[in-house]
Amino acid sequence: MKVTVVGAGAVGASCAEYIAIKDFASEVVLLDIKEGFAEGKAMDLMQTASLNGFDTKITGVTNDYSKTANSDICVITSGIPRKPGMTREELIGINAGIVKSVSSSLIAHSPNTILIVVSNPMDTMTYLAHKATGLPKHRIIGMGGALDSARFKYRLGEALNAPISDVDGMVIGGHSDTGMIPLTRLATRNSVPVSKFMSSERLEQVKEDTKVGGATLTKLLGTSAWYAPGAAVSGLVQAIACDQNKMYPCSVFLEGEYGMNDICIGVPVILGRNGIERIVEIELTDAEKTNMQESADAVRKVNDLL
Ligand SMILES: NC(=O)c1ccc[n+]([C@@H]2O[C@H](COP(=O)([O-])OP(=O)(O)OC[C@H]3O[C@@H](n4cnc5c(N)ncnc54)[C@H](O)[C@@H]3O)[C@@H](O)[C@H]2O)c1
Repeated sequence: MKVTVVGAGAVGASCAEYIAIKDFASEVVLLDIKEGFAEGKAMDLMQTASLNGFDTKITGVTNDYSKTANSDICVITSGIPRKPGMTREELIGINAGIVKSVSSSLIAHSPNTILIVVSNPMDTMTYLAHKATGLPKHRIIGMGGALDSARFKYRLGEALNAPISDVDGMVIGGHSDTGMIPLTRLATRNSVPVSKFMSSERLEQVKEDTKVGGATLTKLLGTSAWYAPGAAVSGLVQAIACDQNKMYPCSVFLEGEYGMNDICIGVPVILGRNGIERIVEIELTDAEKTNMQESADAVRKVNDLL
């Protein structure tokens, strides 16, 4: 199993590290445009192999796509991250050009690969990769909902004063501060609706804190976060590599599902060896349907900028 990660920055390196620590891939290639940067990150990570007990071979290359040839899975994290006060949508000018050229270069060397898009604005970058590569829709996956759901569970655990392993919840919709939809109605603590344990006001606060989860960290760190994004990507990669049939909300190209067409947006999917094995259509309330529609309208506005 060969995995390429383009962009050896904060998220790309974190993603490579988690993939290696989980020890399911034979090879991870890190590629960056900055001379020597990916080589340095790869060497540093390889020097953790004996300490962390993994056999995955990590190599780094400067913009040499021949070294990525025949990758089973390719991850795109290249592009600028947001700074405090910025929205993800403001990154489109620079990141669209990067994602378009990177996705085409990757496919030229790995025509059978499954592509995971992380660069922001992620839903629009996934849509762009879909259009630029012409890959079938089950082989292009945008990562956002897996991270947003992890942040939702973190906030639920905090509000419940419960271990996060007790908590389940999912975030669908666009990967933006206003577009994401934490499904509070379906969130549970060991199968019991979380509304049993907290007031509707507290649950609303959890929802709002989840939606600005990325912005909160960007303000604290001065740049966007990397541990949870890297872990979320590695989870998607593992689900595909190990044919886990695991369910994650991911940004995928819709053709009629949820009443939408010609858009990539976050919905629950089953991930396995073919990439997206199935899109899961859950019954939404009228209010959730309205939220989903508004979220899609916002994603389309950003898509129009392409
Ligand atoms: N989808 C999500 O949930 C999520 C979460 C966090 C970050 N992100 C996004 O991921 C992206 C990366 O974030 P980061 O914090 O790792 O940024 P970073 O600046 O630390 O790393 C980005 C790397 O991309 C490289 N790069 C730029 N252009 C390139 C090209 N053409 N080819 C190869 N490499 C190139 C840069 O040299 C840099 O090393 C940003 O767009 C950020 O907004 C998405």
